[in-house]
Amino acid sequence: MSFEIIPSGEACGASVRGVDLTKPLPEEVIENIRAAWLVHHVLAFPDQAMSDDDLERFTLYFGPFGDDPFIAPVEGRDHIIAVKRKAHETSPVFAETWHTDWSFQETPPAGTCLFAITIPPVGGDTLFTNQHLALEKMPVDLRRRLEGKKAVHSARLAYAPDGAYGDGDVAARSMTITPSDDARVERQHPLIRKHPETGQEGVFGCVGYVTAIAEMDPLESMALLGELYAWQTREEFRYRHKWEQNMLVMWDNRSVLHMATRGYDGHARLLHRTTIGERG
Ligand code: SIN
Repeated sequence: MSFEIIPSGEACGASVRGVDLTKPLPEEVIENIRAAWLVHHVLAFPDQAMSDDDLERFTLYFGPFGDDPFIAPVEGRDHIIAVKRKAHETSPVFAETWHTDWSFQETPPAGTCLFAITIPPVGGDTLFTNQHLALEKMPVDLRRRLEGKKAVHSARLAYAPDGAYGDGDVAARSMTITPSDDARVERQHPLIRKHPETGQEGVFGCVGYVTAIAEMDPLESMALLGELYAWQTREEFRYRHKWEQNMLVMWDNRSVLHMATRGYDGHARLLHRTTIGERG
């Protein structure tokens, strides 16, 4: 089975055609998809009428299921969550800030799969920013100040009871979020990190899940994280992904940041999401 990879022409991202994800894939095809994923960081597969079984099978080609805290899975599945918004929902759009999924975990996930079920006619794009490129082009002085530093990651600003998706948010939201004090746990990861599979260096994480730089004065730490954020999210490192119904997207959490966007008030949006854990 040969398939076609069409690069987005932006800082990352490619579209893949000529493969049917509703059927089991041969090993050779899986390895070719993995290779393309490591090069382009975000792969979109249009026109795939996938069931939840298909989505789970595809996810497991690339690693074990990752652990999804703070969001209840969809009924009957342990490893699929729904990213959803009703047409007239008033709560803030979920994940509309730059992040890499679950970076506060001890072993953050390799990737994420997101399958489009209901897509609004306008808005709701997902943005990605290539963190290898951001590091490669980074001014020497900024890189020198980040080199050797560890970032403190925590889910507290999002999922603690007083966080953005905390007790004050749950009633108005159609997603089933379960805030918890567990979100306050902190874990450290190098700010400049080698990709576990390719060995290529990139920036890992950004302010949000990153709450501080370890062993640095808090004000200095916030100022440096702010400077880094302005750099790592620059337009030149971005890819804007436009969704279609029945499109699967897989992204590499080790090399890109991503964020949801708004602009579809009055329209529903529903996607099913799985997490690809790091291979042991
Ligand atoms: C996410 O961060 O998983 C959601 C992205 C989106 O809704 O576009």
